[in-house]
Amino acid sequence: MSARILDGKALAARRRAALATRVAALQFRPGLCVVRVGDDPASGVYVRNKDRAAREAGFSSETLQLPENTTEAELLAVVKRLNGDASVDGILVQLPLPGHIRTEAVLDAIDPAKDVDGFHPVNQGALMLNRPGLVPCTPRGVMLLLEEAGVSPKGARAVVVGRSTIVGRPVSTLLLNADATVTTAHSRTRDLAAECRRAEILVAAVGRAGIIRGDWIAPGATVIDVGINRGADGKLVGDVAYAEALPHAGAITPVPGGVGPMTIACLLENTLEAALARRA
Ligand code: GUN
Repeated sequence: MSARILDGKALAARRRAALATRVAALQFRPGLCVVRVGDDPASGVYVRNKDRAAREAGFSSETLQLPENTTEAELLAVVKRLNGDASVDGILVQLPLPGHIRTEAVLDAIDPAKDVDGFHPVNQGALMLNRPGLVPCTPRGVMLLLEEAGVSPKGARAVVVGRSTIVGRPVSTLLLNADATVTTAHSRTRDLAAECRRAEILVAAVGRAGIIRGDWIAPGATVIDVGINRGADGKLVGDVAYAEALPHAGAITPVPGGVGPMTIACLLENTLEAALARRA
């Protein structure tokens, strides 16, 4: 038997179309501002995709491209200005930032009400407390893909591989808030294969090509692969050895075309949510 493929690209397109319909009915245009410092080439592609998707959904979207040698104080001043700009509902500072800028200082400076990445401690804290707040986009996309797969986290054994503040931790928390029994595994986990084999829901968010092998996947498990890595041949590959996993998994997300497109759809949903909350 071969796994069902969870088409994130199609799901994201449907959600973006539904969003565009909602936005068209509003008396205002939600505004997103993406700030990019320097010219990390991978970030360039992401930022352009975000910008295009935002415009297609009827948002106003602006990208501020700042030079690599921007100081932390200058970037903080930009964030402060955007916090006070009534036409901006969502602020996203593209990561990674150049090494001379403290990422935490910048993320902490964003108004939590405009923090559409959900990275501010107030929003991360709300998530931990299972209270309303802006939820990080990729983790939100993971939960929507599970829903699309018809997989309820309630009572399920979920294993999240990776503990980053952007993906691993918030995914673990969302699964816990949805009543899964959650294990967060990471680079120091003693027997990663054994942990993975116990998972009914396996979320891979490590950032290492093909580290999760096919025989680590329990028969019929739902596998959500957050990894986006360049393989030896230059092609994009996930954290899961996809071809090996297909005969084991019940359902699996492809890379590309799985979680990635969902991140942008969720960013737009967060921006609309922030825009509506600011006007409520
Ligand atoms: N860089 C890679 N992923 C992300 C993300 O989700 N948000 C931001 N701000 N930067 C990123």
